Amino acid sequence: MGGLLFGYDTGVISGALLLIKKQMALGSFQEELVVSAVLIGCILGAAASGRLADKIGRRMTILACAGVFCLGSLLAGLAQSLTGLIAGRIVLGLAIGVASAVVPLYISELSPPKIRGALVSLNQLMITIGIVCSYLIDDLFIAADQGWRYMFLMGLIPSAVLGAGMLFLPPSPRWLINRGDNQKAEGILARINGRAEGRAQLESILAQTAADRADGPTLTAVWLRPALVLGIGIMFIQQATGINTVIYYAPTIFEMAGFKSDAAAVWATIGVGLVNVALTVVSIRLVDRWGRRKLVSIGLLGMVASLIALGAVFIMTGRPDPIWKWLAVVALGCYIAAFAVSLGPVAWLVVSEIYPQAVRGRAMSLATLANWSFNFLVALTFLSIVDLLGRTGAFWLYAAIGIIGWFLARRYLPETKGISLERLEADLRAGRSMRDLGRAD
Ligand code: BGC
Repeated sequence: MGGLLFGYDTGVISGALLLIKKQMALGSFQEELVVSAVLIGCILGAAASGRLADKIGRRMTILACAGVFCLGSLLAGLAQSLTGLIAGRIVLGLAIGVASAVVPLYISELSPPKIRGALVSLNQLMITIGIVCSYLIDDLFIAADQGWRYMFLMGLIPSAVLGAGMLFLPPSPRWLINRGDNQKAEGILARINGRAEGRAQLESILAQTAADRADGPTLTAVWLRPALVLGIGIMFIQQATGINTVIYYAPTIFEMAGFKSDAAAVWATIGVGLVNVALTVVSIRLVDRWGRRKLVSIGLLGMVASLIALGAVFIMTGRPDPIWKWLAVVALGCYIAAFAVSLGPVAWLVVSEIYPQAVRGRAMSLATLANWSFNFLVALTFLSIVDLLGRTGAFWLYAAIGIIGWFLARRYLPETKGISLERLEADLRAGRSMRDLGRAD
């Protein structure tokens, strides 16, 4: 539900904006404010998430988040002025920022290593489903009087489900052990993994916590730096290869390619969303079998090839042969598919795995802060880059960043498939290179 709200509340604005613009007679700057308010909230929420998750725990943080999601949906849905609407969108952003960091962190700490990849990636699946739901709900209310209010208010349903659901879930055993509550942690580990395996995990987490206590790692510890840089780096590549230009601007891109009708734009957008969902399912099936490295490597190659093709198609569109605009559709579909099997889920997965227990909350918060900041920058600059470099130049720029990402991933991305979080931490502490974390000696 946390992922669903992430996707829903970022996606819902595309339809809501069309109605708000008319009703409130917004100028383009005010329009940009309504859209970007949520991203500003996300940046603030991501920055605060780590301290919160370490202090009150992952479960309580998500529970609080559900309350903030409700509040934001109400504020935005019932807003009587532009200021009220912007305030509501910032509050929603705060909740998204916190949830985007803490939900994968919580799932990762709760999961048995063998299926951790699939379980954490379920969060990404819910993000993509949330995005599609937002398009469908927008479509449902687009003709209603003050329809935008219902669009925001619908967010109340998953927020309430998230809050109610969290009441039945246990706290993270790793967080409990960090606080010295070993007995409760053992019960939870046994419930998830069975008694014997739960006991073994408890021992290994205890040993790791003892090591942490001995040298109390902080975010500034030298041995932690490579992991911090990797986390920020993978978020940069995830965002700077342009995913959200497609998610936010799909209709604009299709218009550029020569599709003129509104219906075509709507179907294009829903189609993009569905491909995103379908291929995320494929990724979930593969991530614990093929591993993270293989998926990122193949996915990035696919993204680069599609971006190059998309750029090339824009040289040809405008010519009489309609084949070019259909090629743009194919290239965009392949691009989304390649993202959905690789960087979409794997970026969030890897940052939920590579940090040591004592600072996992704060380190994850830093990576998430980076994600939202790059997201904001790319959204802000896309149209100016198109003005500056042309459509072809813009997509080729994203392709160039993808090529750099491919080389960096080959060199630095660890294979965390099936490896326990404690083993990863021990390797990091021992000064192993990022690429070698979790590798057999
Ligand atoms: C990214 C979002 C993106 C979404 C699309 C996520 O992993 O962080 O920026 O909108 O995937 O599916």
